[in-house]
Amino acid sequence: KVIEWDYEQATKAGFPHFMIKEIFEQPKSIEETLNRRVHNGIIDFSDVLSDDEINKFDMIHIVACGTAYHAGLQGQYALREISRINSLVEIASEYRYMNPFVNENTLAIFVSQSGETLDTLAALKEAKSRGAKTLAITNVVGSTISREAHNTIYTMAGPEIAVASTKAYTTQVTIFQLLAIYLAEKKGKLTKEKVEKLVSSLYSIPEKIKTTLDNTEIIKNVANFMKDKHNGFYIGRGVDFATALEGSLKMKEITYIHTEAFPAGELKHGSIALIEPGTPVVVIGMQSNLLEKTISNIKELKARGAHIITVARKSCEEAIDVSDEFIGVEDIEDVFSVLLAIIPLQLLSYFTSVDKGIDVDKPRNLAKSVTVE
Ligand code: G6P
Repeated sequence: KVIEWDYEQATKAGFPHFMIKEIFEQPKSIEETLNRRVHNGIIDFSDVLSDDEINKFDMIHIVACGTAYHAGLQGQYALREISRINSLVEIASEYRYMNPFVNENTLAIFVSQSGETLDTLAALKEAKSRGAKTLAITNVVGSTISREAHNTIYTMAGPEIAVASTKAYTTQVTIFQLLAIYLAEKKGKLTKEKVEKLVSSLYSIPEKIKTTLDNTEIIKNVANFMKDKHNGFYIGRGVDFATALEGSLKMKEITYIHTEAFPAGELKHGSIALIEPGTPVVVIGMQSNLLEKTISNIKELKARGAHIITVARKSCEEAIDVSDEFIGVEDIEDVFSVLLAIIPLQLLSYFTSVDKGIDVDKPRNLAKSVTVE
């Protein structure tokens, strides 16, 4: 099927920047990504992965750069939690030179919005030459990576113009979550009832994202605080760590504020020395069973003067009590919560960038796709 992009879709449609338009398009692009793969409640990837191939692979490699790499980390979490399948996530520019353990029993997945990133393409060629089954997840039909891979899964994000990736990321994550359910079912690890429940939960995401998009005032206030800062941290445990990495990357890309992401339990091993009164720390608290531990990390940081900005479920009283600013999102299974938690972080970077007067859609030194090594 050919995916057509029209002129209207590629304009700002009344929004001041492409990035904010693309953030607001996420409910729709996630729904379209789901609709492309789910028919009458049944997930289908049989056009890109045969049952024989599924039975054959004993390892999944996920390879990408930048934001797509973070989507890969979310994919790894979903594959581990939902399907109990082992996977390795690597940065493409490392993978191609690391003499990877890849062979004909490997399913190698390459994630790239543009489908043109040179490092990702070279890594794909490396895996292919060693006999792996290669699968691309990309947003651009006919892109080089889609042509080079054995098969391609398209994200249905539509054209993404802003340099900082938003809707491509959330649709890539959606694909991984669908794939994790599909593989779990094929490998007999999920009952039909459980599959139905997970699929219907995924379909609830677009509406739940809209709740955040309808209430941006609090995020604008936090952005106003962030705009004068030079450093900050993002922390989270389990499912939240990749969200922390992606939130931090968004902040660096378009606001030029130096931020770093850590697993919440790791910050104390050295980097906590950088916390001063007023240092912003963005905490993502969606991993339910570890919330108590994240809260004690918050207390450690507050004792050293950190300004705590927490993203967690609306109902999370424990987090509200210990945070300086609290951004609540809707409730959902932990594994899918990453699609809700990233939205306020995208908005926070966007509003901070606007407040600083930066060219949001075309930040300095960056290109939308990087075709050099
Ligand atoms: C560039 C962009 C990033 C992007 C990365 C990977 O560095 O600035 O935003 O995440 O490339 O791009 P891809 O098209 O392969 O997803």
